[in-house]
Amino acid sequence: MEKRNNFGSKLGIILAAAGSAVGLGNVWRFPTETGSHGGAAFILIYVVCVIVLGIPVMLSEFVIGRSTHANTIDAYRRLAPRSGWIVQGYLGVFAAFIILSYYSVVAGWTMKYLTTAVVGGVSRISDPASYYTAFTSNAWWPIIFTALVLLITHIIVVRGVQNGIERFSKLLMPLLFIIITVLVVCSMMMPGAKEGLRFLLHPDFSKITADTLLSALGQAFFSLSLAMGCLCTYASYFRDDANLTRTAVSVVSIDTLVAIMCGFIIFPAVFSVQEITPDAGPGLVFITLPSVFQMAFDGAPILGYIFALLFYLLLIVAAITSTISLHETITAFLHERGLSRRAAAWIVTSSCLVLGIFCSLSFGPMKDFRPFFGLGFFDAFDFLSAKIIMPIGGIIISLFAGWRLDKKLVRDQVTNGGKLRAPLFGLYRFIIRWVAPTLITLVLLNELGVFSHK
Ligand code: TRP
Repeated sequence: MEKRNNFGSKLGIILAAAGSAVGLGNVWRFPTETGSHGGAAFILIYVVCVIVLGIPVMLSEFVIGRSTHANTIDAYRRLAPRSGWIVQGYLGVFAAFIILSYYSVVAGWTMKYLTTAVVGGVSRISDPASYYTAFTSNAWWPIIFTALVLLITHIIVVRGVQNGIERFSKLLMPLLFIIITVLVVCSMMMPGAKEGLRFLLHPDFSKITADTLLSALGQAFFSLSLAMGCLCTYASYFRDDANLTRTAVSVVSIDTLVAIMCGFIIFPAVFSVQEITPDAGPGLVFITLPSVFQMAFDGAPILGYIFALLFYLLLIVAAITSTISLHETITAFLHERGLSRRAAAWIVTSSCLVLGIFCSLSFGPMKDFRPFFGLGFFDAFDFLSAKIIMPIGGIIISLFAGWRLDKKLVRDQVTNGGKLRAPLFGLYRFIIRWVAPTLITLVLLNELGVFSHK
């Protein structure tokens, strides 16, 4: 059998995994959730969720991936032959499929906004809401941009783990950091930024409800790319001397830092333009921000131009490093089933494009076609993956790592065969066996509406 390619360096591993984690979830979804759940209080709870659950579940995925050095389906097959656990492998690949399909559509919108920003068009949009609706409901353009996103992803994935994924992550992640830092500074200098800072830094504990907690947990899983086989697939390319705990802690820290920094970009800007409220919802980055760019920099349009350009560049870079990981999860599976990497990648790209076309059309010509319990393609894919499969996957992974996997195997992976110390191993075991399955079950029930009394 041909030798499996691995990541070349420790930094490469961290940047690639962080690239998977940092995405639209940080720049787009995190500020939206923070805005609609009261700001600072939400952030505080989010950070607790990420530390208590995010790190242990990520570590478990790393253990599963690296101990087998196989794609996510074969990983479960090898660790638990002839058992039902393999369901998690299939669930992961299936979820990666549908996430990639709808995620590419939003990434495509970002690409469109970036091209508009390049020619200075963002500041000329007179009515951002109708611009957004007109574009997303168009039959052709969003599909062309979706195809472009998939094609770029395809080209990187086909080049392989070291030459494609690792190399581009090492290039794109530092770029991402530079852009974020510049934007945070710009945003802080806007008039009225103080209001935004207060919103982000002074927790109003009366805003915390069960829903806040459960939304924070759901957001943490999405943002960290957990429970879908992505990180498990990446971990299968880790070398045997990689320190899994340290990698998990680094990736979680980078992802959380980026999310919070994006909050510091968006809210000071939003508050400096007073007629706009922070809970504007998913339209925040496509509808609210263009108005912010225009109003906040009324006197200095060149600053508005730069801000808009950098912002959409940030969004697309973050999105592409995530689509790569989703693509790779499926491509690796097909490839290890005997297809060439190129053929496998083409199958993934073209089938996701077909599904992506349906997702895109569900904003326009197919708006009234709602075959999934009243939901159109896009909303159904989002709901199914982020709200149903993700928690189910989280529960299965925790139970698998906590109860099915041999304790010695896990310890060996975490300590690299006794070379590293693992003082918190007992705590990890306790969380992964008891706390994680319980809390994630609550998230699932909440998302299914079991606790809602509205
Ligand atoms: N975590 C990415 C984001 O924040 C999205 C993502 C990539 C993802 N791979 C995933 C989400 C796997 C869930 C599962 O945008």
